[in-house]
Amino acid sequence: MEPHGYPYQILRSCLNKENLVSFKVLIPDEIARSCGKGLELLGRYEVIYGGGTDEASLIRNIAEVDAAVAGHETYSRNVMEAGRKLQCVARFGVGYDTVDIPAATELGIQVTNTPAALTNAVAEHAIALILTLAKKVAYMDRRVREGGWDARNDNAHISIEVGGKILGLIGLGRIGRETARKASVGLGMRVIAYDPFLPPEKFPEGVERVAELDDLFANADFVSLHLPSMPENRGLIGHRHFLMMRNGSFFINCARGDIVDEAALVDALKRGSIAGAGLDVLADEPPKADNPLLVLDNVVFTPHTASFTPEARGAMAESVAQSIDAVLTGAVVEYPVNKPEKRTHA
Ligand code: 8YV
Repeated sequence: MEPHGYPYQILRSCLNKENLVSFKVLIPDEIARSCGKGLELLGRYEVIYGGGTDEASLIRNIAEVDAAVAGHETYSRNVMEAGRKLQCVARFGVGYDTVDIPAATELGIQVTNTPAALTNAVAEHAIALILTLAKKVAYMDRRVREGGWDARNDNAHISIEVGGKILGLIGLGRIGRETARKASVGLGMRVIAYDPFLPPEKFPEGVERVAELDDLFANADFVSLHLPSMPENRGLIGHRHFLMMRNGSFFINCARGDIVDEAALVDALKRGSIAGAGLDVLADEPPKADNPLLVLDNVVFTPHTASFTPEARGAMAESVAQSIDAVLTGAVVEYPVNKPEKRTHA
């Protein structure tokens, strides 16, 4: 007769294959640490934290794991080839420019991301930068701290209103659409957008479609980027675009720094062909001390923190844990980035 009773139930559940640690997951970047908790609670995961985010450390530590969580570190072909058991690279975030997608697909590795988790956080951040620039918040804050309260009578303290101004969005994915909604409904801005991948009939109500990028630059008071970095759009925004922008216009980037020719942006800011820029991302992060943008008064920075809210990061961690569990247990993956055919390395 099979033993029964409480202790035996526990023993049986411990021996149940489902409850044994059967998968290993690597989380090298501290930023994505919270993803481990959900996996540990499932009982079938051993999570390995840290170990270094440079290529050599990743190659060393990825060898025995079934999945890895991608924070800011780069998953090159070399790294993924070293993952003899690797089945999944789950991006803690929406952008996946730090993962070699063709290599992952070839190697049979499923890449996932968390596109739904940070929409509101990043859209709010873009709006915050728009208002910071329009209202000169950062500049006036500096002046007050320097004892310059009474300097408010000079023209440098005249700010602008955004109501009725034109916001030009490049990219109308989840974040672009939410930024459009907040800007038009909340701030009374007129929104125009360029997105060659979105059919005209899919443009949301209240957003005017522009067919040419040049038209967007020529007509907007604020231009905000909401597109992913891809090999074909690196350096897309350059001198000619900034030269086309209206007098007193602003440029906002919460997407990726390498979409912009940064030397051209510096030039435009110095010459005053645009009034200012709000940048959450840079081509080279963190910036070198001699990055010429750092000394320009008409630039407002945040250090790639648009998604750094407890709400977004909690949702990202949950989404990552779900994706890894789905890939490793053969369930439906909600946010696949690629379609690997079968594992070719072992
Ligand atoms: C992430 C980001 O938080 O989602 C993205 O692609 O750029 C950020 O918001 C960051 O990359 C950490 O993983």
